[in-house]
Amino acid sequence: KGPLNDAVAPLEWLLGTWESAEPGEGTFPTIKPFHYTETLHFTHVGQPVINFMFNAFHIETKKPLHRESGFIRMKPGTNHVAFINAQNTGLVDIEEGELTDNQLNLESCALSRISFAKDPHVQKISRVFCLQPDGKLEQTVSMATLNQPLTQHLHVTYQRTS
Ligand code: HEM
Repeated sequence: KGPLNDAVAPLEWLLGTWESAEPGEGTFPTIKPFHYTETLHFTHVGQPVINFMFNAFHIETKKPLHRESGFIRMKPGTNHVAFINAQNTGLVDIEEGELTDNQLNLESCALSRISFAKDPHVQKISRVFCLQPDGKLEQTVSMATLNQPLTQHLHVTYQRTS
């Protein structure tokens, strides 16, 4: 795969495998709060792209739950990032935003779903990745649905395992 492509060099801090350091916290006004574990993979093959795969699991049974997969690109000469994401629930979304030092702020600008996706439909996703001073990675995801305004759904901190 060779060295990381210069076009995504500012995102090098994401590369590798990350495991939730403590159980992730799931919340939303309409659901029972829950805990989960999650593994993140950020890889590259030398293209001006980072590949990602996020796999969440049931905290006790370890059963696979939510999964996301896609690509990250950067607009040349800027800090503008695009996060192109397919979710196992039948949702696909494009999130864009700015990279500032070790923080990436993303907001959905396009969102679509399979014809038989479960209700309530997601209307908006906002997501923050933050590399903390101790080397841990924090992810916070908020969403709006047809019933609820933008509200936090996920908060989780990961440690790098490779
Ligand atoms: C519920 C979306 C990530 C676990 C939901 C609901 C939506 C949703 C729309 C239903 C809310 C309602 O009934 O009002 C999303 C989106 C995600 C995401 C857009 C990513 C951007 C995750 C992850 C997990 C997870 C990573 C980890 C296990 C759950 C659980 C529920 C739920 C357990 C409640 C039970 C259920 O409805 O299945 N999510 N979710 N979600 N989500 Fe997520």
